[in-house]
Parts: sequence; structure tokens; C-alpha cells
Amino acid sequence: MKKIQIAPSILSADFSQLGSEIKRLEEAGADMIHVDVMDGHFVPNLTIGPPVIKALKKHSSIFFDVHLMISPVHKYIEAYADAGADIITIHPEATEDLKSSISKIKQLKKKVGISLNPETKIDVVLNFLDQVDLVLVMSVNPGFGGQKFMPEVLIKIKELRQIRKERNLKFDIEIDGGINFDNSKIAIEAGANILVSGTTIFKSNDGDIKKNIELLKSK
Ligand code: DX5
Ligand code: ZN
Repeated sequence: MKKIQIAPSILSADFSQLGSEIKRLEEAGADMIHVDVMDGHFVPNLTIGPPVIKALKKHSSIFFDVHLMISPVHKYIEAYADAGADIITIHPEATEDLKSSISKIKQLKKKVGISLNPETKIDVVLNFLDQVDLVLVMSVNPGFGGQKFMPEVLIKIKELRQIRKERNLKFDIEIDGGINFDNSKIAIEAGANILVSGTTIFKSNDGDIKKNIELLKSK
């Protein structure tokens, strides 16, 4: 059984205080921080890019789980690696050649993740599961925090866990979007071992992020 890890999404953090928000998350016991990069093209929202990530990484030792919701993605991979991403997760829909984008991330000595939108079937990633460190299953349509959890994606997590067992692979399964205290248990039972959460961690229990991280983990 893989260790359950919590990846708070800084999309729900106070963007005017990102540096201290990341410090708060580190002190509160986050296992990594989930950095949602959006370009206003792949998704209808725009967040942060390499310069901000570089500045944040300089003051932090926590693992940066960088989720690239950008397209095209291939030509920007190096910039995110240089900025300090520890794992770079890309969407197959955002690259013409998933194989070469995965190799590029590995050449840059970074961990590599691939992300599945709710309507994307796992068939798209089956041939790459032996090359990646993470499969990120979106449980909302990418673009915004605070959306409603889509339970229909849990079947994909169960399928991925089964395939990982059959092929004796090691990739982590991360679920991202609408995770809260009511659905984190079923997500873990389905096979997710990394839970991304923004709204629940930053907004529940008067913003007691330590308590919220522990509650999500303890399910
Ligand atoms: C959505 C992002 C998610 C989102 C999670 O496009 O990829 O990481 O920020 O936020 P909540 O937990 O609020 O759904
Ligand atoms: Zn995300």
C-alpha cells in the first residue's frame, strides 16, 4: 500500500502572499505543493509561470508538484524544469508527441506525470505507464478551484491500480479536483495515493490548514 500524501493546491492560496503561504503549508505538514500552471489557452484561466515558481522555490525546500495546464507544452518544459519543478505533469491533449515530451522531462532529470481530464479515457496513457512516475486523474474539468467532485472518474483510478499491479509498475496515482472530507476516503479506497486539494485545505475549519491536511490524510 503506497503512503497517502497530501498535495495542497496553491491555486486557492492568497496569491499576494504566496511565499509565506508555502511556508505555512510546509509547517502544516504538506507532503508537497501542487502548483497549477494555467495559460488561458489550454484552460480558460491564467495563473503563474516559471519566474514566480523560481522565486518561490528559492525560499522553499518542499517538493513542487507542477501541473502544466498549458498548450503547446513541449517547448516550455525546460523553463519549468529550470524554475525548480520537481515533477512536471503534462496533459496528453497538449502535446503532439507525448513520448518525446515524456523523454524531454526525464532528460532534464525531473519526475514525469501525465494527466487525464475527466472525459479522457485511460487508453490514451496505457503505452506510457512504464515511463511515468505519476498519473494525475482530474476529478474536475481543469481551470478553476472550488468545483464539484466528479465521482465517475473513480473507475479510472481503479483501472489504473489494477494495471499497475498486473504490470508490476510503480507510478503514483494522484486525484485532483473537488477533494474534500466526504470524498477523500473513497478516492483513497479506489487507489489514489496522492490527494490534491485547494479549497478544502485553505477554506475549511477557518483556514486551519494543519487540521485540514491531517483530516484528509486520516480518512
Ligand atoms: C484545477 C486544478 C486543481 C484545483 C484543485 O484545474 O488542477 O488542482 O486547483 O482545487 P480544489 O481542491 O479547490 O478543487
Ligand atoms: Zn491541478
